[in-house]
Amino acid sequence: MSDETSTGLREEVRARYAEAARAVLEPRPGVTAQSAEISATGSCCGSSAGDSCCGAGSAAAEAVGGFSENLYREGETDGLPEEAVLASLGCGNPLAVADLHEGERVLDLGSGGGIDVLLSARRVGPSGFAYGVDMTDEMLTLARANAVRAGARNAEFLKGQIEALPLPDQAVDVVISNCVINLSTDKPAVLAEMFRVLVPGGRIGITDVVAEDHLTPADRAAAGSYVGCIAGALSRSEYLDGLAVAGFADASVTFTHQAAPGMHSAIIRAVKPATA
Ligand SMILES: C[S@@+](CC[C@H](N)C(=O)[O-])C[C@H]1O[C@@H](n2cnc3c(N)ncnc32)[C@H](O)[C@@H]1O
Repeated sequence: MSDETSTGLREEVRARYAEAARAVLEPRPGVTAQSAEISATGSCCGSSAGDSCCGAGSAAAEAVGGFSENLYREGETDGLPEEAVLASLGCGNPLAVADLHEGERVLDLGSGGGIDVLLSARRVGPSGFAYGVDMTDEMLTLARANAVRAGARNAEFLKGQIEALPLPDQAVDVVISNCVINLSTDKPAVLAEMFRVLVPGGRIGITDVVAEDHLTPADRAAAGSYVGCIAGALSRSEYLDGLAVAGFADASVTFTHQAAPGMHSAIIRAVKPATA
């Protein structure tokens, strides 16, 4: 991908998710974060038609057109600010796979309105810490307001790109992410950055849209838009190969539900070897 194409796509993604955040920050009748994401560019992360956005059911997802309902277990989001739940644009529940423990340090790539960071902060408790990184100012404004509303003292939202994380080496025990890596225009850089910021023995618990191996990049582009989390998705073997090149071990990609024909929401797990 040329630098020009990459920059153009990144700006399209940023504009789409800024619109989704504004739908929650400045509510207007009938406009949700998901529908805003849709109206801004025509689609969002992953409806079955590829014409909507991650996280149907939330205001953010309706603003952009979401494809995943009921991502969180009953009661799991109780006590979170409504604005964090309304801004949910994920395609899975990374906390359900990350198996977080008290005292751990967690990083969420593409933290959006902050739902997974706030849930992580709750899970790791006061002796742990949860960071979110996002490139979109409007999402950071929303997430920081949500952290204040939630009274979360062990959470921080950092501005940055997931291809160049604003954290030192070996800063966290766990990396999570919810429907974001497909949006990156430099996925090898994202996988390398996850490896760099993890401690030896650290792990990833990610949800993302992943294509079946037989789908070519052209097939994926035909199934849905880039900003809609479809066209930029890696295939299962591309994910596994990329994780191995970055240095990860014990990697797995498990499909959970269909996002578009041949494309699935998936759980991705891997560990950074303890000797790395
Ligand atoms: C589909 S939303 C998911 C938000 C959140 N993970 C959730 O589950 O609600 C994608 C988010 O990733 C952010 N994002 C996309 N590409 C990014 C990149 N290259 N670097 C940093 N953030 C990015 C967007 O600004 C947006 O907030």
